[in-house]
Amino acid sequence: MTRDELKKAVGWAALKYVRPGSVVGVGTGTTAAHFIDALASIKHDIEGAVSSSEASTEKLRAYGIPVFDLNNIDQLSVYVDGADEINPQMQMIKGGGAALTREKIIAAVAETFVCIADQTKQVDVLGHFPLPVEVIPMARAYVARQLVKMGGLPEYRQDVVTDNGNCILDVYNLSIVNPAELERKINALPGVVTVGLFADRGADVALIGTDNGVLTLTRGG
Ligand code: 5RP
Repeated sequence: MTRDELKKAVGWAALKYVRPGSVVGVGTGTTAAHFIDALASIKHDIEGAVSSSEASTEKLRAYGIPVFDLNNIDQLSVYVDGADEINPQMQMIKGGGAALTREKIIAAVAETFVCIADQTKQVDVLGHFPLPVEVIPMARAYVARQLVKMGGLPEYRQDVVTDNGNCILDVYNLSIVNPAELERKINALPGVVTVGLFADRGADVALIGTDNGVLTLTRGG
């Protein structure tokens, strides 16, 4: 199977976590796009969605799925999103699509985070994929210097402005043995909006697309 076929398989498999009549949290990226296609097939059974990016919002609206402001939603049963890497502890690197901040906010609100990913995203230790950090533009050079002190090699993602008007530093050369600690340390730097480490709030369920079918992993399971 191609990678895209594996992404499609997990996007559709995630439908079983959607509660009828609910508002659904929707992520960003090529895997999440397959989930949106799947969600469109049951659009009359859900109330609508909250979205983690302008791109996903546009796709949801094109299908006629109502997109709500998160501030008007008291309760979110499920958030479905992809990942750039996921480890056996269900911690992730996210933000390859620059949507990490809104993704982290929706993940925080959701009762259940369902990560959908093809098998190439599974790793033992996070950090081979460069770690995205969303930064307030005037703090870019300062934050980059601090990241170098932590052993990283930050690279400015040229020509990318996030949906929140900020920039992205992609940090190479990290072997992240303690993801929760690094998440806290980077988040504490003045000027950092969000680090794309989802360690403190990892996934509850991971649907992994493999050549032998969709594997379901659960946190602590
Ligand atoms: C976007 C993300 C995506 O979930 C992540 O980059 C995976 O993308 P894809 O499904 O296209 O491989 O975090 O900010």
